[in-house]
Order: sequence, then structure tokens, then C-alpha cells
Amino acid sequence: MEKQPLYEGKAKRIYSTDVADELLVYYKDDATAFNGLKKGTIDSKGVLNNKITTFFFDLLGKNGIPHHFIKRVSEREQLVKSLKILPVEVVVRNIAAGSLAKRIGWEEGRKLPAPIVEMYYKNDELGDPLINQHHIKILELATEEQVKTLEEYAFKINEILTNYLREKKIELIDFKLEFGVHNGQVLLGDEISPDTCRFWDSETGEKLDKDRFRRDLGNVEDAYKEILFRLTGEKA
Ligand code: C5P
Repeated sequence: MEKQPLYEGKAKRIYSTDVADELLVYYKDDATAFNGLKKGTIDSKGVLNNKITTFFFDLLGKNGIPHHFIKRVSEREQLVKSLKILPVEVVVRNIAAGSLAKRIGWEEGRKLPAPIVEMYYKNDELGDPLINQHHIKILELATEEQVKTLEEYAFKINEILTNYLREKKIELIDFKLEFGVHNGQVLLGDEISPDTCRFWDSETGEKLDKDRFRRDLGNVEDAYKEILFRLTGEKA
């Protein structure tokens, strides 16, 4: 009988392993948007995001960001440390796009004077609302010290990724991070991929991320493949 996952999310399944504090993550091809209202699949997305996430976690680890990633173990699977996930989604933005462009009335593509960090309450029923440190405190989602750490890591990760991607002719517009606690330490968790970031070609402005799926722009799989190729030189 096939092993039952501990948890099944929109894009991944999580399985226990023989090691108490290690989990196996399986990357699916399923894609959702607008809090699950739009559903579809992107061919090979699981394979591509598993590789792209592996690349980014290696890069961040080498640059001093503590994270959950242990190793990629197959095309669609990776081994990670088990985390108690903090129910806060941390978004970093360099250029106005998506929900920020809508909220503050800026056109997409307008550069922010400096990067900003936003926090969202990770709660599907509520549609992941935007919150601040005061909401986090009354909802007891994280301690004040943890919130400081999240912000500090978020800005540092942005610097590392932005600098790296610029050389690959990719503009990092914005991205979402999730963190969790392992043995009392805050670690970066989840994934970093075209599902969770906005990547634009620096020269043409072409979108190379999940907005191609969200906005029905076509060539979704090719965009994910292009990101993997620019990062690793691998032709998927
Ligand atoms: O939709 P919005 O503009 O707020 O998204 C900001 C960034 O966070 C985008 O890169 C998007 O891909 C990512 N995001 C995510 N998961 C969510 C919400 C946003 O990966 N639930």
C-alpha cells in the first residue's frame, strides 16, 4: 500500500521518514492561484521546482541563511528538517506588482525607493490577509524576537538573491518566504521557485514565473525551464 502523506498542500505532499525530525517533500505538478479558485497543472512543474528550490537553498545556505533543506533525493523529492511552521507569510518586494500595485495604486513595474517586507496571516479561510507586528502579537503567531529575525533574514535573502539573479539577467520583483522553528532556532522553510517569486527578464521584461499561469499568458512550463536553465545551465 502506498504511504499516506502527513499533509497534502496545494503544490506539495509531506511524508514522514524513519528519522524523527526529518520529512520528505514531494513536489506535484498541481498549480493553484487566487486562494485555490483557479486550478490547473503545469507539466513537469514538480521536477523543475524541486531543482530550482534546491539551487536557491544551497545558495542561501552558503551565504549564512539557516534553512530546513537537507538534500534533493529524487526528481520530485527532497529531504528537509521538520519545522513548526510560523503561520506568517513573509513577502519581500523590490518593484510594485500584484497585490501591492493594486493596494497602493502604483503601476506594475514601478521601482520601490527601497525594498519592503510585508507579513500575511497564513490562513486559507481568511484568504491570507495582510497583517503587521501588532496583529502578530495579539494573535500570538510569533514572538517579537522571531518577527525581528524574520525581517532581518528577509532583507538579507533579498540582497543575496537580487545580486545573484541580476548576473543571470533576471529581475527579482518580489517573493514569498515561510519560516519555522527547529530546536528553538528560526529556519527558512518551504520553497523558492517561480511559484513563489516574480521573475522578469531584465532586458525584455518578459514574465518568467507563475503569473503566466495566473494571467493565462501561455508558455508557463517554458518559463520555469528558462529559470532552471539560467540558474544551473541545465536544459530540462
Ligand atoms: O499576490 P502578491 O503580489 O501579494 O504576491 C507577492 C509575491 O508573493 C509573489 O511573488 C507571489 O508569487 C508570492 N506569493 C506566494 N504565495 C502566496 C501569496 C503570494 O508565493 N500565497
